[in-house]
Amino acid sequence: MKELNNKTAVITGAASGIGLALTERCIGEGMKVVMADIEAPKLSLEAARLRDAGGDVLDVVVDVADDVQVEALKDAALGAYGAVHLLVNNAGVASGRTHLRSRPADLRWVMGVNVLGVAYGVSTFGRLMVEQGEGHIVNTASEAGLSATPFLGSYHTSKYAVVGLSEALSMELAGTGVGVSCLCPELVDTKIFESTRNAPADTGLPMPPEIPIDQIEAMMGTTAMDPADVAADIIYAVKANRFWIITHQVTLDRIATRNRDLELGRAPRSPMGG
Ligand SMILES: NC(=O)c1ccc[n+]([C@@H]2O[C@H](COP(=O)([O-])OP(=O)(O)OC[C@H]3O[C@@H](n4cnc5c(N)ncnc54)[C@H](O)[C@@H]3O)[C@@H](O)[C@H]2O)c1
Repeated sequence: MKELNNKTAVITGAASGIGLALTERCIGEGMKVVMADIEAPKLSLEAARLRDAGGDVLDVVVDVADDVQVEALKDAALGAYGAVHLLVNNAGVASGRTHLRSRPADLRWVMGVNVLGVAYGVSTFGRLMVEQGEGHIVNTASEAGLSATPFLGSYHTSKYAVVGLSEALSMELAGTGVGVSCLCPELVDTKIFESTRNAPADTGLPMPPEIPIDQIEAMMGTTAMDPADVAADIIYAVKANRFWIITHQVTLDRIATRNRDLELGRAPRSPMGG
């Protein structure tokens, strides 16, 4: 899709971070944007701000982990704009617990949002786009879907799943007119480490973080990217029909190390040392 003017985007997790920056970027491209998010007050605040500034946006409160709500999102988008050309499955969460400290409810939450949320978006909007004969789907994975750390077990599990889903989808949709991209950013300056603000009560979250926030923030201080720059990378990839969206050189370095480990049968080592 080289031309985005007057086309419609559906962006999940649009009330904050990468999703909000991408919404702004899509408006700048002349697109109409359906902003979907679970955090209702922030969503309605941001949508009103963008509408006041002249953007054509529709805000829909959605839990992407619920397939019925994702179907209703499609109906709302079609009702407002008649077609959907770009879907960005961006909503995502991190529990901040290691695997051994995770409870079943945490795992259901993280897998529900990060994996099922993407899968429901893909099947619901993918069928529509194939019927249209035109469209592009961006799935937000992460560098955490290509290489691991010891701290974010369920997050890595979920993001590796998004990478696999995206690779399979890209092949499944070849020749349909629907493009696929997989976004794998390293650290971006957003509220991802405050994800537990949206956690269901049965997860027992928020709790004192078990990931070494100080180390992560130290890394963010040097490598965290502005979400607006990630949004620009996404739009470039959509226009160029590019599959991989890798935002940081360090990601390519880690993949090279991982591939070497695979060849040598060597166990992974933490990128943070230790
Ligand atoms: N920030 C980073 O360093 C980084 C790096 C790699 C990948 N990512 C991924 O980028 C995506 C966007 O996250 P972000 O960094 O902008 O964080 P963020 O917390 O600023 O934004 C995430 C948005 O998703 C929404 N959301 C959470 N659960 C939802 C649900 N069940 N249904 C609908 N919306 C829901 C939140 O309300 C929030 O508005 C996520 O998939 C995240 O995993 C982030």
